[in-house]
Amino acid sequence: MGDKVSIILTSYNKPDYLQKAIESVINQTHSNWELFVMDDHSNEETTAVIHKYLYDHRIHYKNSFVHPQHRLKTTRYATLINDALPYATGDYISYLTDDTVYHPNRLSRMVQTFLCHPEAQAVYSKQKVVHVNERGEEMSHFYRNANTVLDQAAFQVDHCSVMHRRLLLDRIKDKYGSYWDDDMKHWNHGDSIFWLRVNTFAPFLPINEVLDTTYKTPNSFQNAFQFLPADLIDGTFVKGSDQHVYFLDQGVRHPVGERWRSVYLDRTVIIPDPYLFQYHMGKCLNIPNYVLVKEADRPAVFYIDAGKKRRIESQHAFQFYQFKRKDILTIDKEVLESLPEGPPITRERSGVIANPPGRRLFFIERERFLFLHGVFHPISEQVVRKFFLQQKPIPASFRNIQQFPIGKPFYPVYDEIIKNLNIAIE
Ligand code: TYD
Ligand code: MG
Repeated sequence: MGDKVSIILTSYNKPDYLQKAIESVINQTHSNWELFVMDDHSNEETTAVIHKYLYDHRIHYKNSFVHPQHRLKTTRYATLINDALPYATGDYISYLTDDTVYHPNRLSRMVQTFLCHPEAQAVYSKQKVVHVNERGEEMSHFYRNANTVLDQAAFQVDHCSVMHRRLLLDRIKDKYGSYWDDDMKHWNHGDSIFWLRVNTFAPFLPINEVLDTTYKTPNSFQNAFQFLPADLIDGTFVKGSDQHVYFLDQGVRHPVGERWRSVYLDRTVIIPDPYLFQYHMGKCLNIPNYVLVKEADRPAVFYIDAGKKRRIESQHAFQFYQFKRKDILTIDKEVLESLPEGPPITRERSGVIANPPGRRLFFIERERFLFLHGVFHPISEQVVRKFFLQQKPIPASFRNIQQFPIGKPFYPVYDEIIKNLNIAIE
């Protein structure tokens, strides 16, 4: 048997990191490899990087040209890997993402291990995980160890730390009908779902040496996906990897002008691109919903709610609903006048919450709720932390909100998926 390794590198819009990933393959001490650069319709900057390396006959490139509407339909990297695998001619298969680098002896150490252990089907190695900030500077790091034989590698071993024999693929396809399961619900852990398949045939042998370093950027899917509810919350300022800020409103993402910078600066939520692409692009908004505004020379403060301006009737109401003076933006008289008037925001003596402002957070008998579109939604603390860091919840009791329905909760979708998979996670 030979010692050729097929590497499947999946890429999406990370030109700088991608360049390092490709070079880390070129710099391997073991030279018998082929590299499939599977690009998922990245921007030009990224494809330009790829083209620089196509002179090397060992490097193959395919662009998926995926349409934005289809991006969310499958776990993209798994789809790309499945597209590449039929062309792989190596004795061994190894996976790489665009934000990871292989250390120079990665291939040689792994191939060596296979040569010493003819019975082994899959090996894995120790990984360095580096968290970087938006400027690419290291903030912290930790290691994922590799010191035991794993019968259950799922949720223990990263995408980029594994090599397996190619022949195993036929057995996997026979049994499961495909190589990688690219069902969309596994986006955040598609590698683990594949390891589950591998583990039905063989354990993973450890190599207790750091053979790759992966970089977690603030935009990385894992960070962006963490604590995200299945439905994003209307009225959120979001940004994907291109850094443009959008305002989400019922299936539409509106670009937001610079003039709202002070409002969105500390409350923009980073979300994965596929989530962003689900929303149709709308027009640039004059005034987004759920902001506090006033005219320059007038004391009246308004809350923009469902496209209407709602006057906040008293200081008492302003405080009760946890509004903050620093959030009030002064706008032109004409802009304010152009908006239809909604019911005022009041604070009743009886304590009854008659017509509360939309998209405010409540604390009702030790639980958190979000009032949105006339419904109180239970919301988990983690989702609150991601979406409402800046708002203190409004204290209330069920008695005082009893005329409103209780709706679907906003809980992190990831937890639900893991629970349904029914596997132990350390
Ligand atoms: P990445 O954003 O690095 O996720 P994580 O937070 O888990 O590190 O993406 C993982 C891989 O998926 C990476 O190789 C790029 C690829 N990918 C696509 O192929 N298409 C896409 O639309 C996205 C978002 C990622
Ligand atoms: Mg990544």
